[in-house]
Amino acid sequence: MSENNLLNQFLLDFNGVSCPGCVKSIEKTLADLPATTAIKVSPTTGNSLVKTSLNIDYVEKKLKKFQGCCENCIITLQSIKNVNDGNTTQTNLFLAEEMDDYHLIKMQYAKALKQLSQSDDVACSEYCVCKTTTVDRKKEFPQAPSLAVIHDLTTRINKYLRQGMNVLDFGCGTGHDALQIAPIIEPGNMIGIDVTPEMIAFATHAAQKLGIENVEFKIGADLSNIPKNALDVVYLNNVFNILNEKQQILQQIFERLNKNDFCIIADEFTDENLPNELKADPSFQCGGLAGAESLSVLEMAAKKAGFRKVDIEIVRHYTVEYRSQNLGFQTAIVMLWK
Ligand SMILES: C[S@@+](CC[C@H](N)C(=O)[O-])C[C@H]1O[C@@H](n2cnc3c(N)ncnc32)[C@H](O)[C@@H]1O
Repeated sequence: MSENNLLNQFLLDFNGVSCPGCVKSIEKTLADLPATTAIKVSPTTGNSLVKTSLNIDYVEKKLKKFQGCCENCIITLQSIKNVNDGNTTQTNLFLAEEMDDYHLIKMQYAKALKQLSQSDDVACSEYCVCKTTTVDRKKEFPQAPSLAVIHDLTTRINKYLRQGMNVLDFGCGTGHDALQIAPIIEPGNMIGIDVTPEMIAFATHAAQKLGIENVEFKIGADLSNIPKNALDVVYLNNVFNILNEKQQILQQIFERLNKNDFCIIADEFTDENLPNELKADPSFQCGGLAGAESLSVLEMAAKKAGFRKVDIEIVRHYTVEYRSQNLGFQTAIVMLWK
């Protein structure tokens, strides 16, 4: 440890850390620093005033890559500045959250999963589409409740399933659909991919508890690790709208399906020109509505990826009120045939 006898004053500017868990984690990391006499952490921004006899090199090293509350939240040191007010010198360290493209999604869905175990509300955000369903999620399949509107997608897919098929659930969440489909396709293999590590841990644990062995859940944000022509069925239940690279994912799905096999997309669609503010609103982004497009846009994208036939079933029509505007949406199940 590198200490000196003088009391140094550091201002750690966390640049508006939004996550309350991270603020708690900042507090703990600072409290664990040796030879530190005074710490003041802002409960909203994480900004902290630290008085310590540790020197700048030690503090800098400690905060170079600061782990937030979970593996999705990493806070890194961006710059250091010395400020002298005539009497004291204060070192200001500017830190910021390091985010990957899936940061928001991972945070919100980890939150949704936590809520699932603590309350009846599983919605990842205020405008999450799963808020609109009336199904009692915990009763329906208690081992792995669905986070989607189409909670009964499994029963709709059943008629297409045969023993020995290889099936992918992309954006599998808790494994709700995958765990019900795996026993039907045995000795075939079921794969679940999800970008949120907590979801994969939950689904893996549920599979172990249920004794289902022909299912594997993996962390991932695309299908790049799956060999081409290796799948008989791919489905995305309330995931497509959340994807950043929809065309690229459709292309990957097409390439990984065998000829005459299919992909099912269950999601929300709209013919409205959605307001830019709504599209940029995190709670609409996670719920999936911000990414909703018209069914004809999906049909064109599927054809561009190579699919020869697109079948559409509209399950319901509904409206969402946004800033005094009533916006029309449809929930639909779309089958894309290779
Ligand atoms: C509304 S939930 C649906 C979960 C599940 N399909 C179900 O029916 O319960 C959306 C899921 O998609 C996952 N997700 C979002 N973007 C993803 C991506 N690019 N790759 C993989 N999973 C993703 C989220 O982590 C979340 O678990």
